[in-house]
Order: sequence, then structure tokens, then C-alpha cells
Amino acid sequence: AASLGGLLPATALAQKKIVLGFSQVGAESEWRTANTESIKASAKEAGFELKFSDAQQKQENQIKAIRSFIAQKVDVIAFSPVVESGWETVLREAKAAKIPVVLTDRSVNTKDDTLFVTFMGSDFVEEGRKAGRWLVEKMKDQKGDVNIVELQGTVGSAPAIDRKKGFEEIIKADPKFKILRSQTGDFTRAKGKEVMEAFLKAEGKKINVLYAHNDDMAIGAIQAIEEAGLKPAKDITIISIDAVKGAFEAMIAGKLNVSVECSPLLGPQLMSAVKDIKAGKPLPKRIVTEETIFPMEVAAKEFPNRKY
Ligand code: AHR
Repeated sequence: AASLGGLLPATALAQKKIVLGFSQVGAESEWRTANTESIKASAKEAGFELKFSDAQQKQENQIKAIRSFIAQKVDVIAFSPVVESGWETVLREAKAAKIPVVLTDRSVNTKDDTLFVTFMGSDFVEEGRKAGRWLVEKMKDQKGDVNIVELQGTVGSAPAIDRKKGFEEIIKADPKFKILRSQTGDFTRAKGKEVMEAFLKAEGKKINVLYAHNDDMAIGAIQAIEEAGLKPAKDITIISIDAVKGAFEAMIAGKLNVSVECSPLLGPQLMSAVKDIKAGKPLPKRIVTEETIFPMEVAAKEFPNRKY
């Protein structure tokens, strides 16, 4: 092959791998594991070099990872921000280094939308609304109060803020819906169980509904409910979000009433966005994932089709 400047063969230059730096939130849930697998598999498939960093649910680790991607001069940086705020400084550093940034799964709270190219992921407010609408329909004939406890996701994270907001927006139309307690379970099974135990201790049989911001916390809470001698999905109606396989298993076992879908399979979309960026193609500022809702009645039929 002809050589360019006598240093590298032209074919080698043409084949230079695109380097993608990805900073992941952590490994807090079944959803997150599926998301990581999707990103790793699609980067491999696309032939990219992936620099992957796990932030263990800590913003400072993500900031460090992004700075290290900047120092390494990667082609594109992508990340799923653990919390919504506090990103402007590091994003400005990426912009100054002319490294495009893609937000996946969770967004950031900034007025300057030149700090990232696009945000791809779910509409978390709509997921909260779907959960609320399902509950309103299920309880439409109930005359007395409907007492709800809420397990929130990670404090300050977009899905925790938005899922709460969307759910409240729907249930507030009827004053019979009352949120008795609302606390974070950090999106993990262990915390979900622990906080549900505290809810049960404080409110006991008054609790009619559990709204969990993800399936893992609901699964942890189911254990707490059973240990308290109550029947999950019967004595306490349980609504959660993600629709991971673990939730389908719980629904098939009759222990979870419904799960709102939130797809973690963002890898292929991300790789195609990276290719477009490198090819100079414009991208929409927002790419929304299409999703549905799965009540327990359809769980057994849908289970074989689930990919995560
Ligand atoms: O950001 C998506 C959320 O993060 C998922 O719903 C939750 O399971 C995960 O930890």
C-alpha cells in the first residue's frame, strides 16, 4: 500500500479504529448489567475500541473517567450520568478539547445544550405516568383511601426525579391516592428490601400499594413483604419499572402486578450515533426509546420474547 508521509500505510490509516470512552453508572441493577452488555457487544460488533469505566454510582468517579478520556483524546465520549446536575465544568472541558459527548439512558440538567450532541434513552416521566395510569385504572372502583409507599431510585438521578413526577401527576387527580412514605432504595435489591422493612414496621397493614422506581427494589421489597407474613401482589399491589427478566419471573410467580418497560438495549443506537458523528452527519438532540407496559396477566406469554 502507498504510504502517507512515509510513516503509516494508507490502509492502516483508513482502518484506524474509532475510540469510544464510555462511563457507566455502576452495576446496581439487572437493568444496568443488561445495558453494559449491550454497549460492550455493540462496540465490538461495530469494530470500535471501547474504553469502559464503571463509576460505582459515584459522580466523582464519572468526572474522573471523563477527564481521563479527554486526556487520552478518545474520538467520542458517551456516559450515563449518575445524577442530573453538576456536569457543566467537565462537559465544557470536553467541548474545549473538541470531543463530542453523547448522553445515554440518563440526561443532565444544563441550560447549555451545546455541551452534548444528543441524548438517547427513555422518557422517564412517561414511565411514571404509565405506572400511575395503571394504578388509577386498577383502583377505579375502590371507594376508600389507596395508601401508597414509594421506593425511589438514586437521589438526584433523572429516573428517580422523573418517575416520581410522572406518577404523581396522574394520581393527584384523585385525592383517594395517598403517598404515605417515599424513600430512596438506590435502585438496588438490598436497599429495596431494607427500606420496605422500615415501611412495613411504620405503616403495617395500612399499605395497599408499593410503587418501586425499578424492578430490583421491588424484588427486594417482595422478600420483605413475605417475611412480614403478607402476600405480595395480593395484600399489597406492586408496580415497578424496567421489565427485566427477574420481574417477569416474579409476575409469573404471582408476586408482582405490573412492570413498565424501560429498555437498556441502547448499544446499537449508540454505535450508530458515534458513526454518524464521525461521518459529520447531524443527529436529533433527543432520541426517545419506544416502550410499553407488561401486567402480570401477559407475563408468561411475553417471557420467551424478553431479551434482558
Ligand atoms: O437509568 C435507568 C435506571 O437505572 C433503571 O431503571 C434502573 O434499574 C437502573 O439502575
